[in-house]
Amino acid sequence: MQYKYHITTYGCQMNKNDSERIEVVLNKMGLQSTGDVESADVVILNTCSVRDSAEARIFGQGANFAKLKQKKPNLIVAVTGCMPGRDKTKELKKRIPWVDLYFANEEMIHLPKWLAELNPDFRVMEDLETDYLNIHPNYHSKFQAFVSIQTGCNHFCTYCVVPFARGTEGNRSLKSILAEIDDLDNKGYKEITLLGQIVNHYIAPDPEFFSKDNIYKKNDFAKLLWEINKMKSIERVHWTAPHPIYMDEEMIDALTLPKQVNFIHLPVQSGNDEILNKMNRRHDRQFYLDIIKKIRAKRPDMAIGTDIIVGFCGETEEQFQDTVSLFKICDFDISYHAKYSTRSGTVADKMFKDDVSKTEKKRRWQILQDLMEEITYAKNQKYVGQKVSVLVERCNDSWCEGNSNEMKLTRFKGNESMIGTIQTPEIYKAGTWLLWGRVV
Ligand code: SAH
Ligand code: SF4
Ligand code: F3S
Repeated sequence: MQYKYHITTYGCQMNKNDSERIEVVLNKMGLQSTGDVESADVVILNTCSVRDSAEARIFGQGANFAKLKQKKPNLIVAVTGCMPGRDKTKELKKRIPWVDLYFANEEMIHLPKWLAELNPDFRVMEDLETDYLNIHPNYHSKFQAFVSIQTGCNHFCTYCVVPFARGTEGNRSLKSILAEIDDLDNKGYKEITLLGQIVNHYIAPDPEFFSKDNIYKKNDFAKLLWEINKMKSIERVHWTAPHPIYMDEEMIDALTLPKQVNFIHLPVQSGNDEILNKMNRRHDRQFYLDIIKKIRAKRPDMAIGTDIIVGFCGETEEQFQDTVSLFKICDFDISYHAKYSTRSGTVADKMFKDDVSKTEKKRRWQILQDLMEEITYAKNQKYVGQKVSVLVERCNDSWCEGNSNEMKLTRFKGNESMIGTIQTPEIYKAGTWLLWGRVV
């Protein structure tokens, strides 16, 4: 009998990349992937805990799985990712009694053993690796890949659950990162995205694997970017998320490396000093603005993205207006806005009051959302009449789509043979979230 598995992934790219590793573990056990949850024998929910709403989506699935289990008594439901990661006392687990397996990301190496205990028909296997990050992912594309270089975080921003969910910062060995990327390069991959919670704080545990002629001396992440820039088929290097305080001179210089995409995502969270301080962001407004200035001095046309939290504990209208004014100065191309959601276990939950009302959070969120759309639409007009460089991801009914070097979604007429290639359409129309082009 052919057993099947289904994975649903919530949250960030790091979770997506982890799911690509879980697939490898399950494939090695002889299970087959299915897109249809009803036909699966093993269902994995890879969870996110960053906001209350992300966890609520898991709690709400009980009835559904009860029904599925009635039809298929041997169905195994596993919950992994950031929720079990942060749930040290297993309080959250009590709310999902329908779950058969509950484990943090790094424990995926034990999956074969655990699954075989639950269903003796499954092949018993040894643990695959000692460090789950070294499991070679089942990449979902033949030309784009995520490469996790770090896990966890030591920063403990007061609102954030990630250090609890993924532990303190752990850096993957440089040797293993370079081997993975070298392999992707040999296979002809065009774009890689390096992942880490504070990706530009990467510190190689084995720096002896950097080339002797590496032009950077201090910042290991800049050095890593330089190494990747030497590779032959990779054409675009993207990474997320950096922290402003580690944008040192070498990092800013590394933005001029030829394969660096014309985009940087640099979370700011707030434009007000008091709020930044309460968030434990370790930098103030002026520091962030200076970094943006330095980036623009090196790469004037670089698109810039950010993350902002509205309605953090005690945030006044005036303090919120500082975020609005920072937004205007930075002229962001894209910004992810989150309404503050208190997370148990964090410093903010213990020390401050979540006292901005839901309606007020929503109002502030909408103000930023409208501002972003207005700015983005206006900024996108500059591409009209220009050629942009697009890595084609898909093509349906002869419409090709992919992101430009600025990470702007671009659509143009083409054909399926263009998938995985870089094309340079000339833009004739620009909307807020889509550029329309023509390959001439
Ligand atoms: N490591 C990254 C971000 C990780 S979490 C960084 O340092 O920027 C992704 C985003 O979720 C954060 O940038 C923040 O904007 C948002 N976020 C994190 N905790 C939150 C909370 N408690 N409420 C609302 N948004 C939150
Ligand atoms: Fe969370 Fe702050 Fe670490 Fe980012 S830097 S993961 S926001 S604690
Ligand atoms: Fe969510 Fe965990 Fe990513 S909390 S945002 S899936 S690191």
